Amino acid sequence: MLVPASVSDYRLLAQRRLPKAFFDYIDGGAYNELTLAANRSDLDALKLHQRVLRGACNIDTATTVLGQKLAQPLVLGPVGLAGLYARRGEVQAARAAQAAAVPFCLSTVSICSIEEVSAAGTVPFWFQLYVIRDRGYATELLARARAAGCTTLVFTVDLPVFATRYRDVRNGMTGGAGPLGRLAKLWDIVSHTGWLIDVPIGGKPLTFGNLAQAVPSARSLEAMKGWVDAQFDPGVTWKDLDWVRQNWPGHIVVKGVLDVDDARSAAEVGASAVIVSNHGGRQLDGAPSAISVLPRIRDAVGERLEILMDGGIRSGQDVAKALASGAKAVMLGRSWAYGLAARGEQGVAEILAILKRELEVTMTLLGVERVGDIGAGALDR
Ligand SMILES: Cc1cc2nc3c(=O)[nH]c(=O)nc-3n(C[C@H](O)[C@H](O)[C@H](O)COP(=O)(O)O)c2cc1C
Repeated sequence: MLVPASVSDYRLLAQRRLPKAFFDYIDGGAYNELTLAANRSDLDALKLHQRVLRGACNIDTATTVLGQKLAQPLVLGPVGLAGLYARRGEVQAARAAQAAAVPFCLSTVSICSIEEVSAAGTVPFWFQLYVIRDRGYATELLARARAAGCTTLVFTVDLPVFATRYRDVRNGMTGGAGPLGRLAKLWDIVSHTGWLIDVPIGGKPLTFGNLAQAVPSARSLEAMKGWVDAQFDPGVTWKDLDWVRQNWPGHIVVKGVLDVDDARSAAEVGASAVIVSNHGGRQLDGAPSAISVLPRIRDAVGERLEILMDGGIRSGQDVAKALASGAKAVMLGRSWAYGLAARGEQGVAEILAILKRELEVTMTLLGVERVGDIGAGALDR
């Protein structure tokens, strides 16, 4: 490939550059990957409604999400372990987001800490928190995020337990590999020299920046999975959102909602927004695609909450389909992770530029000049 043209091209570049285990960690989903596939196939099945001769020549992709001006309707969503895909990966991605005037959301399980991202001059970024048992630790994380200038908290609620991802098990990412398996893992690492020099050699320290005391090493998923198994709390209820509210004065965005009543509960507990999401097909395998439930969530709570959506967004056309189905903006997961793994900050910047250009062209062909005008009529029924 001489010049990558699309997000799927960056996926291929990422596949070449990363050890197989890390590529599969990004690319894969839970169990039989049915929901992962549905996120894509349901987006593909939607048809856009072409309009002609409408004089759509002043295309503007800018929008406002939670009072923040965005150059295009998307956010770099929380992606754990990004500092393992490229050297100090979260800082690189946050810089690309800042340059493209879209928000970056830092995962709880990032390699770079809140402070490192903040020191790179990338404020205000968003911070994502998982529901963890150790409330003292969580309170401390929220205080750190506030001190770093984060305005928006993404509270992820669809990971009360860690669903099995068969690819990670087979690759020995979650332990269990015998001596031969460990040798194969080592070969997987050392045979990807570009990545080896960039990340394990040049990208130290490879620790979970926000959880350094809790999880000493980020060298395998095993340590993180152990922490998740011990710390993630399936007993959490909507009442626990009171605790979040007490500790977070800014916007709270509930991530991982697929049900209308859950979306209503999010509104009742004072969330500013929900993210319609199945965690990119990485949790409940068999759950519907995010795009397919989006319209009914919009109908139920669209007046009370801002609605974001993620899952399968790989093009500007997908962004338009999500907006037409009721989202104010989308979150990117794998799309930016592929860009980062392929080419670092430049790769993320290129992904953002591709999506923006694709959205501009799509808007012209839909005959709309403002993203706010991409309504249900943009879909061909
Ligand atoms: C490698 C990887 C790591 C992720 N880590 C997190 C995380 O730490 N916190 C979180 O809320 N979501 C996490 N997600 C889910 C994404 O935020 C997002 O919901 C999902 O990737 C969207 O689907 P897409 O990748 O098809 O765009 C992760 C997703 C991937 C692919």
